[in-house]
Amino acid sequence: MIDKIAVIGGGNIGGVCVAEAASRRLARKVALVDVKEPDFAKGKCLDIAEGTPVIGSDTLLEGSRTYEVLEGAQFVINTAGVPRTVRPDGTFPSREELLATNLKITDAVAAGIEKYCPDAFVVSVANPLDAIVYRLHLQLKDQVPTHKLLGMAGVLDSARYKYFVAEAAGVSVENVEAVVLGGHGDTMVPIRSACRIYGLPVTAFIDEETLAAIETRTRKAGGEVVGMLGVGSAFVSPAWSALEMVESIAYDKRKITPVCAYLDGQYGVDGLFVGVPVVLGRNGVEKILEIELTDDEKAALANSVEAVRKTCAEVDKAEF
Ligand code: APR
Repeated sequence: MIDKIAVIGGGNIGGVCVAEAASRRLARKVALVDVKEPDFAKGKCLDIAEGTPVIGSDTLLEGSRTYEVLEGAQFVINTAGVPRTVRPDGTFPSREELLATNLKITDAVAAGIEKYCPDAFVVSVANPLDAIVYRLHLQLKDQVPTHKLLGMAGVLDSARYKYFVAEAAGVSVENVEAVVLGGHGDTMVPIRSACRIYGLPVTAFIDEETLAAIETRTRKAGGEVVGMLGVGSAFVSPAWSALEMVESIAYDKRKITPVCAYLDGQYGVDGLFVGVPVVLGRNGVEKILEIELTDDEKAALANSVEAVRKTCAEVDKAEF
């Protein structure tokens, strides 16, 4: 059992992270920081704490508007930042359009981690995902080594791909292996050549046209949910996905997991955080896997990396 997990941002995603961590008995203590007044984080934690006798969980919960509750955390899940939400005209922003607002919030998050739990593993969920992780790295590179700083995107994007494939094939989601690589934006790359149902190529179950439609839907899946919710973006599946990463590290599962990880040469990329398959174990990123891709997939990945590079260039220009 982990001694302490800290969740930063106690809104939709952070709230599910805290509730799930308690119900899974994942940590002895779960801390939550949220700047929202009057005492949002405390209120969230009290609500969940009062339910722990019902589910038989002895997890201790502590909420605060300030960051000192991070002290001693071995894991940080960062969900602080505004989500995408539908505008009055029915459109909604891209994840990249959240950058300016969320960068400022990210700097407060980085300062909190640096001061109170620089030894923690950091799993970041805030958008634009790859650029926010990059900013955390710029702010924390002397404290948090790159194998301990990860972004959560690939688990969720791959889960969406798996779900759509399972639905189309009429089989259990447990029979589907699928992975989405690249940035967590509209350029993300569902890897059809690695998609399997019961160990067999997905094309044995689903025709090309349906698969192409599934892959397009996967790339836009976050927006589909935003459009339906009206306010805010997906939150249960992102929270479960972040906890999947925490569990793989905490239990030293060495599960091959697509995460937003620091690349220094892999896939021909240097100095950026991009979604790639990694072995997740007790040290965080134990190994980055360079899987074989088709020429089309390689080109799509290069395009996605360029999109990440462009957003990170905005980060480089932004003041600290
Ligand atoms: N420190 C701590 N918490 C903060 C800070 C800060 N400096 N700034 C904002 N927050 C809190 C807000 O008060 C809010 O409660 O972060 C919370 C974010 O919650 P929601 O608005 O419900 O957003 P959520 O759906 O959880 O998404 C969070 O993850 O997937 C991404 O795009 C999404 O960037 C968004 C983030």
